[in-house]
Amino acid sequence: MESVMTRKWGLALLLALGVTSTRAAGPTITIDTASPSGKVSPLFYGLMTEEINHAYDGGLYAELVRNRALLDDAASPAHWSVVQSDDAAGTIALDRSEPLNATIGTSLRLEVTKASAGHAAGVANEGYWGIPVKSHTRYRGSFYAKAAPGFDGPITVSIQSDDGRTVYATGKVARLAPAWKQYEVTLQTGNVSPTSKARYVLTLDRPGKVWFSLVSLFPPTFKNQANGFRPDIMQMMVDMKPRFLRFPGGNYLEGDQIADRFDWKKTLGPLSERPGHMAPWSYRSSDGLGLYEFLLWCEDMNAEPVLAVYAGYSLKGAHVNPGPDLQPHVQDALDEIEYVTGPATSKWGALRAKAGHPQAFKLTYVEVGNEDWFDKSGSYDQRFVQFNTAIKARYPQLKVISTVGFEQPEGLRVHSVKPDVLDEHYYRPVDVFLRMARGQYEKYDRRGPEIFVGEWAAYETPFEPWNARSRGEPPTPNMQAAIGDAAFLTQMEKNSDIVVMNCYAPMFVNVNPGARQWRPNLIGYDAMRVYGSPSYHAIKMFSTHLGDEILKATAADTDVLVSVTRDSRSGTIYVKLVNATDADAPVQLDFQGVRSLASTATAVTLAADPKATNSIDAPRTVAPVTSKVSGVKPGFTYKVPAHGIVVLIVETR
Ligand code: AHR
Repeated sequence: MESVMTRKWGLALLLALGVTSTRAAGPTITIDTASPSGKVSPLFYGLMTEEINHAYDGGLYAELVRNRALLDDAASPAHWSVVQSDDAAGTIALDRSEPLNATIGTSLRLEVTKASAGHAAGVANEGYWGIPVKSHTRYRGSFYAKAAPGFDGPITVSIQSDDGRTVYATGKVARLAPAWKQYEVTLQTGNVSPTSKARYVLTLDRPGKVWFSLVSLFPPTFKNQANGFRPDIMQMMVDMKPRFLRFPGGNYLEGDQIADRFDWKKTLGPLSERPGHMAPWSYRSSDGLGLYEFLLWCEDMNAEPVLAVYAGYSLKGAHVNPGPDLQPHVQDALDEIEYVTGPATSKWGALRAKAGHPQAFKLTYVEVGNEDWFDKSGSYDQRFVQFNTAIKARYPQLKVISTVGFEQPEGLRVHSVKPDVLDEHYYRPVDVFLRMARGQYEKYDRRGPEIFVGEWAAYETPFEPWNARSRGEPPTPNMQAAIGDAAFLTQMEKNSDIVVMNCYAPMFVNVNPGARQWRPNLIGYDAMRVYGSPSYHAIKMFSTHLGDEILKATAADTDVLVSVTRDSRSGTIYVKLVNATDADAPVQLDFQGVRSLASTATAVTLAADPKATNSIDAPRTVAPVTSKVSGVKPGFTYKVPAHGIVVLIVETR
């Protein structure tokens, strides 16, 4: 009794002196700055990619000609049409009797029967939902051609309006040889009204017969790389500061059938030696974006590859038996790792050097397969062991990822060895993500395996991603989904000592009708424009304000979700706050153990109606706003807006 009285008097004395208790009543977030609870994984934020929704062909890969190798459709020259008029006529057809080479076994035969100066006939490519025409832009055109006897040129190459009435840029190849040869042209636009209602046209101004193959047109690319990437899409990713790129999939790694896997050796070298292959999302891949280009993509973003190797299971259920049958695939994986990391003197490293990159790429993680819980034969355990043993024997420094995580039943997981890392995939409704945000990873054993959340996305509609396009849902998610995403991120960030990497999926969608197979997606584009979904902005806000230390934050009497990290060099503290409710939520931010805080902080806020979203025509309806916060001190109150995501950047002194 006496001691209670003493405490009461002590409290009264402190209040009289104007000192308030550090334990505040009401909604409070207490941040322990004295000792970090863990280290943020250095590769925590990254990106996942695969050929889906025309992510590469018709997306990041800047090639503008669709079906350039004439292999997309065995029956007809898909995406090509005849250019003719009352005064000019011709026909086009696929021709297997005049192949470019053993790899590209079909060519496009153009037979012009009537044409003259001013009345040309030829062939047009419609591009990937149009050809983007921009002012004062230089395009690099190229094609292989072989002229039949009686015709030796010229060929006029142009970018023109769909109806042929406006020519935006033109080039000419004066003479054609009777044997296959590659020709190059430069096309330069002047002052034009930007449009994608355009086509790429090759014409003859006299009768003649020509075969074409690998007809290509590139606009300016990121860093002007040959065979490169669209600068605007690339910049969206660079701005997120990703630390890794998981490639090549996803289902794209596996293919529907074993023969359709990402067979990396067939994606190297000159384009004329790349046959392309059928991808699992209902269209062929040109493989113009092959293994070497994936690696350059990583380098361009200052990110490291997380290399997924084909592990003997394909999407429609076929698998390769562990043991001798699997050995060629294991060898392929070892060769692939050598291509990425080996010295220029090694067999596969030499090929990389020949392509232009003598220096090895940094590689820490190799993933064995993709979502192998779908393999109902139960072969994954032994397949994984075979890969793991071979990889560790040759590359002991590498960490090997199993594709079956704790979110899958125990019986499906690898049990014969302990994988270094498990890849968990979560496509879940927003309310499930909000639940997972409250403790999903706290219960994970810190002794490992490490966790890679290699695909995740909150969705706001009933989930049938592959049917969503027929229901007309927008290709990218709305603000409500972004709240779910940000909530889940607070959970992963707080536990980024064990959750070593994460990446949203899918990353890309071409928003044109018919181009997509999945929703929701992070970044949308058409031939001319690109935009980020609310989820894109939320992830970018988080990934660009990270630091390297996790600070323990305890929330009391509030639904606001929080994650706090700090940059150990500068002392800057990043407080991430997510309010999923429809009321503003004031919270007292109680920084414990801090000497002093700068009186002004910066807030980056994404807040909007849950149904609000961005689109190709309204790209910034939901966008982050940066503002100054004054009156910052330990215990200050900050109001987190309804349906709001906030990153508070607080400087310590
Ligand atoms: O991201 C779309 C698909 O979802 C991936 O290809 C696959 O890994 C997952 O099932």
